[in-house]
Amino acid sequence: MSKVILVTGANSGIGFELVRILAEQNHTVYLGARNEAAGKEAVETLHADGLKTVKFALIDVTKVSTIEDTKAAIETAEGKLDVLVNNAGISKMGVNQNATSIELETIRDAMETNFYGLIQTTITLLPLIRKSSNGVILNVSTDMASNTYQARPEAGLHFVAYNTSKAAMNSYSIALGHELKNEGIKVNAVTPGFTTTKLNHHAPGGKTMKEGAESLVPWVLLDPSGPTGKFFDWDGKEFPW
Ligand SMILES: NC(=O)c1ccc[n+]([C@@H]2O[C@H](COP(=O)([O-])OP(=O)(O)OC[C@H]3O[C@@H](n4cnc5c(N)ncnc54)[C@H](OP(=O)(O)O)[C@@H]3O)[C@@H](O)[C@H]2O)c1
Repeated sequence: MSKVILVTGANSGIGFELVRILAEQNHTVYLGARNEAAGKEAVETLHADGLKTVKFALIDVTKVSTIEDTKAAIETAEGKLDVLVNNAGISKMGVNQNATSIELETIRDAMETNFYGLIQTTITLLPLIRKSSNGVILNVSTDMASNTYQARPEAGLHFVAYNTSKAAMNSYSIALGHELKNEGIKVNAVTPGFTTTKLNHHAPGGKTMKEGAESLVPWVLLDPSGPTGKFFDWDGKEFPW
């Protein structure tokens, strides 16, 4: 059955490839982007490939009016939202993120998008998700958000702004999952693992964007008997919070 899905931050990277995969399966997919030109160009690319079920949504997760406008547009056109994929994110990986010398502004910036933005997007769109018979919220996390994983001696990438904002988002995901459990709305977090994208300045050696996107698909298209309140890795294995 065709679903109505919104992917935030989908003009590039994993989000863009995820929209492509979902549209190839004939789902109605809103490609969310904060940059109108980049978003519309991404939609046109997919339309040119025959994927006509892709629609554009101008959404900046740090600007509540754009989230409300997106909600209104989806409500008018579809009447519900089956799946929200909170994929938009920033890493600030080009900026100092050492625990002993980071500027607080760097952490605030990361929190604004990765944490507050995700919460605002979720709360604003929740009434539409409640109209679905099988609502799903998928938060795109990272292994670097796992305190259990990061505390191990072998964990090397301690980007304080990125990791703490994503860890905070993980904590919110847990609370949200608990709160929505009785309504049957599934909330999970997933890490695609190291994927070569704009976020890490195209660092070599990662998964392709398509591979990163493929690892999210089972959690986007979750059926009503699926899990909730869990954190998964790219292989579908449960990952420690
Ligand atoms: N790449 C990895 O190794 C990796 C690993 C684990 C998790 N992830 C997660 O995967 C997700 C996608 O990242 P990616 O690797 O595909 O990088 P990406 O290509 O940089 O994608 C990030 C997207 O988020 C958008 N974005 C940033 N701030 C936004 C805002 N305020 N409102 C709306 N959209 C915003 C970006 O838009 P602009 O183009 O306008 O900047 C871009 O489209 C992120 O949540 C990231 O944390 C990535």
